[in-house]
Amino acid sequence: MHFKSLLPVAVVIAGSRLCHAALYQQLSDLPADIDYDFIIAGGGTAGAVVANRLSEVSRYQVLLIEAGPLDRNILNIQVPFFQPRLPSGPYDWNYTTVAQPGLNGRALPYARGRVLGGSSSINFMFYSRGSASDYDRWAKVTGDSGWSWRRLLPYFLKNERWVPPADGHNTTGQFDPTVHSRDGNTLVSLPSYNQTATDGRTIEATEQLGPDFKFNLDLNSGYPLGVGWNQYTVGNGQRSSSSTSYLSDKYVRRRNLHVVLNTHVTRVLPSNSGSAQRPVFRTIEVVPANTNGSNRVQLKAKKEVILSAGSIGSCHILLNSGIGNSTELSAIGIKPLVNLPSVGKNLTDHPLASVTWRVSSNETFDVFSNSPELQAQALEQWQQNKTGPLTTPGINQVIWLRIPNDSPLLQTYPDPASGRQSPHIELAMTNSAGFSGLVGRFVTLGMAIPSPLSRGSLTLASSNPLAPPLINPNFYSSPFDAGAMLQAVRSAQRFFSAPAWEGYVLDHAWPFTEDIITQEGEEGDEAVLAVLRNITQSAWHPIGTLAMSAKGAGYGVVDPDLRVKGVVGLRVVDASVMPYIPAAHTQAPVYAIAERASDLIKAAWDS
Ligand SMILES: Cc1cc2nc3c(=O)[nH]c(=O)nc-3n(C[C@H](O)[C@H](O)[C@H](O)COP(=O)(O)OP(=O)(O)OC[C@H]3O[C@@H](n4cnc5c(N)ncnc54)[C@H](O)[C@@H]3O)c2cc1C
Ligand SMILES: *[C@@H]1O[C@H](CO)[C@@H](O)[C@H](O)[C@H]1NC(C)=O
Ligand SMILES: *[C@@H]1O[C@H](CO)[C@@H](O)[C@H](O)[C@H]1NC(C)=O
Ligand SMILES: *[C@@H]1O[C@H](CO)[C@@H](O)[C@H](O)[C@H]1NC(C)=O
Ligand SMILES: *[C@@H]1O[C@H](CO)[C@@H](O)[C@H](O)[C@H]1NC(C)=O
Ligand SMILES: *[C@@H]1O[C@H](CO)[C@@H](O)[C@H](O)[C@H]1NC(C)=O
Ligand SMILES: *[C@@H]1O[C@H](CO)[C@@H](O)[C@H](O)[C@H]1NC(C)=O
Ligand SMILES: *[C@@H]1O[C@H](CO)[C@@H](O)[C@H](O)[C@H]1NC(C)=O
Ligand SMILES: *[C@@H]1O[C@H](CO)[C@@H](O)[C@H](O)[C@H]1NC(C)=O
Ligand SMILES: *[C@@H]1O[C@H](CO)[C@@H](O)[C@H](O)[C@H]1NC(C)=O
Repeated sequence: MHFKSLLPVAVVIAGSRLCHAALYQQLSDLPADIDYDFIIAGGGTAGAVVANRLSEVSRYQVLLIEAGPLDRNILNIQVPFFQPRLPSGPYDWNYTTVAQPGLNGRALPYARGRVLGGSSSINFMFYSRGSASDYDRWAKVTGDSGWSWRRLLPYFLKNERWVPPADGHNTTGQFDPTVHSRDGNTLVSLPSYNQTATDGRTIEATEQLGPDFKFNLDLNSGYPLGVGWNQYTVGNGQRSSSSTSYLSDKYVRRRNLHVVLNTHVTRVLPSNSGSAQRPVFRTIEVVPANTNGSNRVQLKAKKEVILSAGSIGSCHILLNSGIGNSTELSAIGIKPLVNLPSVGKNLTDHPLASVTWRVSSNETFDVFSNSPELQAQALEQWQQNKTGPLTTPGINQVIWLRIPNDSPLLQTYPDPASGRQSPHIELAMTNSAGFSGLVGRFVTLGMAIPSPLSRGSLTLASSNPLAPPLINPNFYSSPFDAGAMLQAVRSAQRFFSAPAWEGYVLDHAWPFTEDIITQEGEEGDEAVLAVLRNITQSAWHPIGTLAMSAKGAGYGVVDPDLRVKGVVGLRVVDASVMPYIPAAHTQAPVYAIAERASDLIKAAWDS
């Protein structure tokens, strides 16, 4: 241990220079002598929601602490098409995974937002909720029907504000208005730029292939199987993040909400008033970000500390604090305070790959992607009236498929999907070379495995709380996941066999050779798998490091009300609490969790 853990609460240096409503640029700007009821660690997707909802109650004094800077007026964050510039950039924690044996020993970049809005400020903006049965499974394993689809749907709707796409096109027949809300905070819309080469053909193909490729009017009804139009957290041609939607100026102006930026939370600390059995953790230790941590300050919450630092950050903070597997913590030189062996176990993530074919058309998005002139024009248009090709990340349709129940894969492994109407494969239509970087004219299908069987972990590399943790998604450690990705390649081939693509899709371009991808039998499968291990990466959807379980269960980190088991005063509200990964891109599920959690917290302190 570097220092004593039970110091009296330090008084933060006064001199409150308000920079932007009640957004404080640094720890030393925070007003002294304020007793916060709630202190939220992490101003990301979930943290912004909780800060907003708790500060609706004027008698609650709320402090939100974010390690990264302000997100305002940053073009790469605002412009949807510029999303690929964000990972590994100035608003990323720049983590790297440990070497992945299932991926030929490669270590992968592991993006996490480090800016107000967190990962919702740097993500790809897909808006997807997953399957109804994903949430019914959560309800079952936690013993709390509040996590069921039926009870959680109102919270998805509370988050969502459906708006027209930036091109104003007629959206009739592209979504089901009865499963959307126009009253929430986060803007959601259909794709706002016609991919003329692929839009028509994709929809046409749904009438030409088997029932698994049928058209699905709305992928967010809880029943995602089939082919449907994508939906994005984009509105008015711009990214809608948790910061733009829950921490906009009108909210940050609330006198009972303080947001402090550039401040790193290192640990939660026990207060000596707790009983030996249930220690109280209402004190949080922070350091100015981008320093070496020598100037640590403690802040105490009157009611609760809420960790919303994400699947990596919140778990890292608990381990640094001595909350985890006591044997493992001692081994690394951290004094164990609470033995909770599930902390950092069961990390689950979606593996991601893609396949690209050459096409005969000149109308693909590659023309735009490879032309600085066209992009400069488009930027001018975007700046003028927020329309044009920059208003979308570019993927207009998504396909969710099941592997047939009688396939060898599902005969060998337990079905990891949450139900018979929940997918094993996701394909994302891309009217270009996608991320392959090829020059020419292409069509690409992004491929992900929405219900993987592999489980990874998050552990400490050192007792220094500022050192990055060891992140291990453990991709393809279950052969099911690699087998499912092989099936995704086969499904992609089948999709392009539809008459709609005849004369359009030419030969295979990447990552396989035409020889490999067309080779039949086991040898062909082995050759495809060998390449997949070289190109698979993360979809950046880690969950489960601080998973919920039923009250009294022999495993798990938080109870169904998101309180850390065995301690008092401490909750977790972010992607880390998910007990199973939903068949979804994870931001909408995080928003729903955060909306419900806010109600749970309010209810707990209402009396
Ligand atoms: C590149 C990328 C693309 C993605 N694409 C999509 C997509 O298209 N659609 C989708 O649905 N999902 C997508 N996701 C996933 C989705 O964005 C996340 O699952 C979700 O935003 C996580 O929310 P969270 O609240 O758990 O964590 P985050 O939003 O990551 O918030 C955590 C916050 O805590 C802060 N923090 C962390 N540690 C500390 C600390 N010690 N002290 C202080 N602050 C700290 C971070 O800086 C961050 O602001 C993507 C993610 C990434 C990274
Ligand atoms: C991540 O890398 C980018 C590019 O090098 C850098 O600007 C940024 O500061 C890094 N992030 C952190 C948290 O170090
Ligand atoms: C949109 O299209 C539908 C049918 O495709 C049509 O009934 C409707 O009138 C159109 N709406 C507008 C505003 O043009
Ligand atoms: C885009 O254009 C194609 C062909 O021109 C058409 O079939 C399709 O419906 C259009 N898409 C939208 C969203 O209007
Ligand atoms: C780093 O930490 C040490 C104490 O651990 C301190 O003396 C030193 O001034 C710090 N350096 C910087 C650059 O903050
Ligand atoms: C804690 O970690 C040790 C060492 O890795 C392991 O042997 C033990 O099984 C773990 N305890 C529990 C309860 O998981
Ligand atoms: C991981 O999750 C499974 C349920 O999916 C559970 O049975 C197991 O106990 C968990 N492991 C740990 C270490 O928490
Ligand atoms: C596509 O463009 C190339 C030149 O870039 C031209 O030679 C070719 O004829 C065009 N093809 C079609 C189908 O328009
Ligand atoms: C937006 O500006 C572009 C020119 O930059 C113009 O062509 C287009 O019609 C404008 N759209 C709207 C809706 O005003
Ligand atoms: C995988 O990548 C390695 C390293 O680049 C290379 O040597 C190997 O041939 C690749 N394997 C396949 C099947 O592409």
